[in-house]
Amino acid sequence: MDPRKLAEYLESGCRVDAASGDLIDRKLGLPVKAIVPVHLYGQPADMDSILALADRYRLQVIEDACQAHGAEYHQGQTNLPHGAEYHQGQTNLPHGAEYLRGQTNLSQGAAVAPRGQICLSPPATAPEAPAESGADTPVGGPALPPVHRPKAGQAAWRKAGSLGRAAAFSFYPGKNLGACGEAGAVTTNDPELARKIRMLRDHGQSRKYYHDMEGYNGRLDAIQAGILSVKLKHLPEWNRQRREAAARYRELFRGAGPLAGNGGAPPAGLPLAAPAPPYEPEWTKPIYHVYAIRVPDRDRFMQSMAEAGIATAIHYPVPLHLQKAYERLGYGPGSFPVAERVAPQIVSLPMFPQLTAAQQAQVVAAALAALRPSAAAHA
Ligand SMILES: Cc1ncc(COP(=O)(O)O)c(C=O)c1O
Repeated sequence: MDPRKLAEYLESGCRVDAASGDLIDRKLGLPVKAIVPVHLYGQPADMDSILALADRYRLQVIEDACQAHGAEYHQGQTNLPHGAEYHQGQTNLPHGAEYLRGQTNLSQGAAVAPRGQICLSPPATAPEAPAESGADTPVGGPALPPVHRPKAGQAAWRKAGSLGRAAAFSFYPGKNLGACGEAGAVTTNDPELARKIRMLRDHGQSRKYYHDMEGYNGRLDAIQAGILSVKLKHLPEWNRQRREAAARYRELFRGAGPLAGNGGAPPAGLPLAAPAPPYEPEWTKPIYHVYAIRVPDRDRFMQSMAEAGIATAIHYPVPLHLQKAYERLGYGPGSFPVAERVAPQIVSLPMFPQLTAAQQAQVVAAALAALRPSAAAHA
């Protein structure tokens, strides 16, 4: 999730309802209540920026940590564009502690209104309420910084799933921590929310046969729980091995240099001659649930890899906004151009803890061979 795009959306794509104070999506007319950052492929989202926006707009943050068991994020990044810092009361993070968080710049014109509501530009859309001292002071500067960097001594490594109000984990068998069937969990440090979630997963029962709300059956099977408890002990080592394998892929591709037949120039639409390795900012420790690269001619690439006896996969072929299930939201082709450009190029290479250096060398050799004719075709 790109916090700059999120800020743009909150500022321009939403308005404040004068009666309720709710943030409303201008296009859909629906209230906006929460942000769901997905730590995709095991790569933590830029949570400082997202949490700052959530605080500013009074939104809940529910992390999708389904692919990020054990991934870490360096929280409390403080190298701000103007050297500004503010001491913010912590409201939705574990331990209930206060902390220093880097201020994320919002575009000019955004302001915090009385009663905790957000005034968006133009201010006329703000709910009417008596002004409190300093409450309508505009916050932030012209734009979000591209990335935040932690400053030594003021930030801490935190696990994905401990940063928002709640987080969802999947233990689907293929996950870094996988059951032998369907399983999942929610983490939160909010006891009341935990109580409600426990009830929801058990047909809304507060105690046996007393249903306080409608729920469903989302109980974790005891056999799956047993399997997960045993596997959980191995997770840190498995994650370490995945990170090691990712570093090896990076080195092997880097060592390959420019692709033959392309005169050293990048294949069309790609920034590097060799496949671009996944982005790994220094403020994250991703756990590589998936190792995805971008290639110019994916069908051909996958076919060639299959002929070399190497499995590849696509995560994911259709961007969310183009899924049939979300047709009703009215986002057609062109709505999210980056996702649409990347979706046909991404392909996942083998990635699992036991992957050996020799196997990776084979994968990379096959990948480079697969890319050569493709690169020439695009030259
Ligand atoms: C990022 C992400 N979110 C949500 C889910 C859904 O998890 P589950 O199928 O266990 O409900 C998955 C599982 O594939 C996932 O990878």
